Amino acid sequence: MDEVTTGSEARQIVRRARCAGCSIGLVPTMGYLHEGHLSLVAAARHETDLVVTSIFVNPTQFGPNEDFERYPRDMERDRQLAAATGTDLLVVPSGTEMYPDGPQGQRVWVEPGPLAKYLCGASRPGHFRGVATVVAKLFAMLEPDRAYFGEKDFQQAAIIRRMARDLGFPVEVRTVPTVREASGLARSSRNVYLSGEEREQASVLRAALLEAAGNIAAGERDPSALEAAIRSRIASGAPAARVDYVSVVDAQTLQPLEGYIERDVLVALAVYFGGTRLIDNITVSP
Ligand code: PAF
Repeated sequence: MDEVTTGSEARQIVRRARCAGCSIGLVPTMGYLHEGHLSLVAAARHETDLVVTSIFVNPTQFGPNEDFERYPRDMERDRQLAAATGTDLLVVPSGTEMYPDGPQGQRVWVEPGPLAKYLCGASRPGHFRGVATVVAKLFAMLEPDRAYFGEKDFQQAAIIRRMARDLGFPVEVRTVPTVREASGLARSSRNVYLSGEEREQASVLRAALLEAAGNIAAGERDPSALEAAIRSRIASGAPAARVDYVSVVDAQTLQPLEGYIERDVLVALAVYFGGTRLIDNITVSP
């Protein structure tokens, strides 16, 4: 595995591979790799010739009171995992490589538009602008044919797919199913913040989403009734939880439903355990 810290070094390797007829697969991450990331690397390994994993904890997607400073980092472990699971090129750009004038000096942004209006976009103002902007920078730097994102971040993947389309990045945005712990809890770098008790209670999130899917299969079409049932399941199964949002939205537009469920929906939630914010979702066809 090669490792580089600058865009120009990375581009040289990527362009050389492309000239040799290789396709490029990109797995953008913020590091502290877990099995979710590794499944993205595995998908890229399967589908493309040169697998590029990037690690950059992007300051502009964190709110002022969020966990940018304490976001978990372990470069040595990440390096080993990335190499062991099939990364060919590890790109670890510095802050100034990604933001030449610093995050505060960035003047031109990618505005994510209506897909960012609800769900995490409503709870974390500016978050998806930061994500879309940094992913655009990575696409420009690494010129991937395919880029890989987890379904846990459904809204993020939808925004990036739309950005690629609207800005003409010639990249196919691929999504990979969420990897879960045995309890059903979605793998996340932030799970490391949870106490044993919180981690146990957090398994209720997946259970509540599966229950909602079951209710839709059984004929429930009222989004408010589904949301209320999820909230009540969380309240009874996880007394330590504080719900940020529970929302049933159109799976294509990510807008709230006007009436009853008629098309595919995304049932999504964000829940705090202490200071730790967890998200999860499920897509359901009525
Ligand atoms: O999902 C993530 O880890 C980040 O949002 C991403 C896509 C690497 C952009 O910083």
